[in-house]
Amino acid sequence: MNDTAITTSGLTKKYGSIIAVNDVTLKIPKGSIFGLIGRNGAGKTTMLKMFAGLAYPTAGSFTINDTPYNNIVKEKKLKKIGVLIEEPGLNKGFNARDNLKFKALGLGINVNEAHIDELLQFVGLNAAKMRKTKGYSLGMRQRLGIAMALIGDPDILILDEPINGLDPQGIIEMRTLFHNLQAQGKTLIISSHLLSELSRIATHYAFIDHGKIVHEVTSAQLDEYQTSGLYLLKTNKNPQAYELLHALDEKWELSPQGLVYSGEQPDLAKIVEILKQSDISMLSFNAKAPDIEEIFMQYTDNQGEIL
Ligand SMILES: Nc1ncnc2c1ncn2[C@@H]1O[C@H](COP(=O)(O)OP(=O)(O)OP(=O)(O)O)[C@@H](O)[C@H]1O
Ligand SMILES: [Mg+2]
Repeated sequence: MNDTAITTSGLTKKYGSIIAVNDVTLKIPKGSIFGLIGRNGAGKTTMLKMFAGLAYPTAGSFTINDTPYNNIVKEKKLKKIGVLIEEPGLNKGFNARDNLKFKALGLGINVNEAHIDELLQFVGLNAAKMRKTKGYSLGMRQRLGIAMALIGDPDILILDEPINGLDPQGIIEMRTLFHNLQAQGKTLIISSHLLSELSRIATHYAFIDHGKIVHEVTSAQLDEYQTSGLYLLKTNKNPQAYELLHALDEKWELSPQGLVYSGEQPDLAKIVEILKQSDISMLSFNAKAPDIEEIFMQYTDNQGEIL
C-alpha cells in the first residue's frame, strides 16, 4: 500500500545563481498535516510552487501518490492538488459564489450551486457570499482562497502561509478548518515562518533553511522535546564528537551549531572523558529552555542571512 502523498528526490530549483531549493529528499505521509517551516527566503514558496506545477525543478523529481509528477495528466493535477499560494487569484468585482463558479469553469468542473454553498459554509463565508470580494478582509480572502483550492475535491492541499496576518480568532477557526479537512482524509501541506503558528496543527514538521531541509520531526517528537530538556554542546571537532557520542546514545544529533541533546541532562563528566580520549576539547555546554522556536534555531546556521 502506498502511504505517501508526495515523495521528493533530490528536488532542486535554481534561479540564476540562487539555489532556492537545494537537493531536497523527503516524504510527506498521506493524511498528514505537513508543516514546512522557515524564515524569509528559505525556499518555502519555491518548494510549494514546484508541487503545484507553478515552478519547474532544475534537478531532481517528485511523485504524487507514487506516480511521477510528469506522468500525471494536467487536468488531474489541477483537480487533485488544491493550491493557495500567495494571494488567491480573485476577481474583485465578483462575489464569492461567482468566484468559485468561475474557478470551476476554468478547471472544467461541473459544480452545482448546492456544492458551492456547501464549500462557502465550510470555510465560514456563508454570510458574506453575495458581497463583492473587493470589500473582503485579508482573512476573508484567505478563506475564499481555500474554498477555491477545494473546488476540485483535491486529495492534497497546498497552502502557502495561510495563517499569516490572521487575527487570533481567525487562527483558531483556520486550525479547525484544517483539522476538518484532515478528517476527510486529505493531506495538507502548510508553510509558515513560525513553528508556533503550526504547533497545534501539524502532525509532521520539516524545517527549511537556505533551500535545505535541516530537520524533520513528528508532533509526538516535538511534544517530547517540549517536556524534556534540550542541551547544546560545542567542541573543537563537532563531527568527530558526534560520531563518538551518538554511538553511545542515539539522542545526540549534529546541528550546524554543535551537538544537540534532548532528554534528561547527560553525564557531563563522562562526556568530557570520552572526548578527551580522542583529543577533542569541549568549548561550551548549555542547557536551553525547551522553546520550540529555539529548537528550530538549533538546526539553522543562525546567521539570519537572507539570500
Ligand atoms: N522568481 C524568482 N526569481 C528569482 N529568484 C527567486 C524567485 N523566486 C524565489 N527566488 C529566490 O529564491 C529564494 C527562496 O525564495 P522563496 O520565495 O521560496 O522563499 P520563502 O521561504 O517562501 O520566503 P518568504 O517567507 O519570504 O515567503 C530567495 O532567495 C528568493 O529571492
Ligand atoms: Mg514565501
